[in-house]
Amino acid sequence: MKILVTGGAGFMGSNFIRYVLNKYPDYKIINLDKLTYAGNLENLRDIENNPNYTFVKGDIAKTEDVDRALGEGADVVINYAAESHVDRSILSPRAFLDTDIFGTYTLLEAVRAGKAKKMIQISTDEVFGMVHNVNEEFTEETKFDPSSPYSASKAGGDLMANAYWRTYKTPVIVTHSCNFYGAYQYPEKLIPLFVTNLLENKKIPVYGEGNQFREWIFTEDHCRAIDAILHKGEAGEVYNIGTRNRKANIEITKFILNYLGKDESYIEHVADRPGHDFGYAVNPDKLIGKLGWKPETNFEDGLAETIEWYKNNESWWKKLKSKEYQEYYEKNYASKK
Ligand SMILES: NC(=O)c1ccc[n+]([C@@H]2O[C@H](COP(=O)([O-])OP(=O)(O)OC[C@H]3O[C@@H](n4cnc5c(N)ncnc54)[C@H](O)[C@@H]3O)[C@@H](O)[C@H]2O)c1
Repeated sequence: MKILVTGGAGFMGSNFIRYVLNKYPDYKIINLDKLTYAGNLENLRDIENNPNYTFVKGDIAKTEDVDRALGEGADVVINYAAESHVDRSILSPRAFLDTDIFGTYTLLEAVRAGKAKKMIQISTDEVFGMVHNVNEEFTEETKFDPSSPYSASKAGGDLMANAYWRTYKTPVIVTHSCNFYGAYQYPEKLIPLFVTNLLENKKIPVYGEGNQFREWIFTEDHCRAIDAILHKGEAGEVYNIGTRNRKANIEITKFILNYLGKDESYIEHVADRPGHDFGYAVNPDKLIGKLGWKPETNFEDGLAETIEWYKNNESWWKKLKSKEYQEYYEKNYASKK
C-alpha cells in the first residue's frame, strides 16, 4: 500500500509514520510537510533512511506540491497536516484558514481527480463545541458548534469533506479524536509544556482554576485507531476516536507535579483563554462496535511513559524552547498573519 501522509513531521503524523513502517514493512510512505514551526524532521531521524519512506517538502494548500508528492498516485491520503494550536489561532487565525480549510480542499480535489483512491481526514472533537458535564458525550451526529478559530477551521475542512462525499462521492472518511498525548509533542501544548517547564524549574500556567476537562488518547492507541479505519473503515463514514479518559486540567497538573517531585507553588493561575470550552467528551462506540478497535493504554501509565520520554530527550525539546528558535519563529512565521 502507498500512503501519502501529510503533516508527517509533526507530533502525531511522525508517530503514525513510525507505527506503519514498523507494522507493515512492505507499505510505502510519502510524507508531505511544509515544515512550519511545528514540523521537525528530527521526529523521524530513526526512520529517515528506511527505503519505504520519502520526504517531500511542500504545502497541502498548493496543488503543484500535492501533485508532486502524489507522483504516480497513492492508495490513500491521510491528512494530519494542520495548524493545530488553539492559542495561536486566537492570535493569528489566517494560517489556520489556509491550511485547515484550503489545504483540506486541495487534497480533496486531488482525490476527486483520482490521484489517490481515498482520503482519511484527521480531525478533532473540538469541532463539536463543548460538553457541560462528564455525562454528556459527542456522537458522530452531534452538530458542529466550534468555539475557536482553530476548531472553526477544522470544522470547515470536515464539512468540505462531507460535501465532497455527498456531491461527488469522493471517498473520504472523517475522524474526530480527543486530545493526543505522548512523545514528540511540541512543547506548547499542556502536557509537554508543563513537563518541560518543571524540568527547567519554571512555573506552569494553569488557565483559571483548571477545572476544564479534556479526554486523552495515547499516541499508540490513536495510531491503532487510524490503522483500523485505514483497513476497515467505509468511505463517507465519520468515526469518533475516544477513550473516556476524562481529566480536569488541574488533575493532570497535579499528577505531573507529583511525578516530578514538585509542589503546587509551581502553579501560576493565569487568565482564562477567551471562548474556552469547558469540556470535551467523545463517544467512541461506533469505532469500537463496527471496527473492533479499543484503547489499550491506561492514562496514568501513558502519562508516566510520556514524562519519562521528555526527561530522556532534553536536547529535542530544549532546542525548540531556545531563544534562537523562538526568534527564528517570530521572524519567519508569527508575523505572517
Ligand atoms: N494534538 C491533538 O491533541 C489533536 C487532537 C485531535 C486532532 N488533532 C489533529 O491531528 C492532526 C495532527 O495534530 P498534531 O498535534 O500532530 O499537529 P502538529 O502541529 O504537531 O503538526 C502539524 C504538522 O503539519 C505540518 N503543516 C502545517 N501546515 C501545513 C501545510 N500547509 N502543508 C503541509 N504541512 C503542514 C506542520 O509542519 C507539522 O509538521 C491535526 O490535523 C490536528 O487538528 C490533534
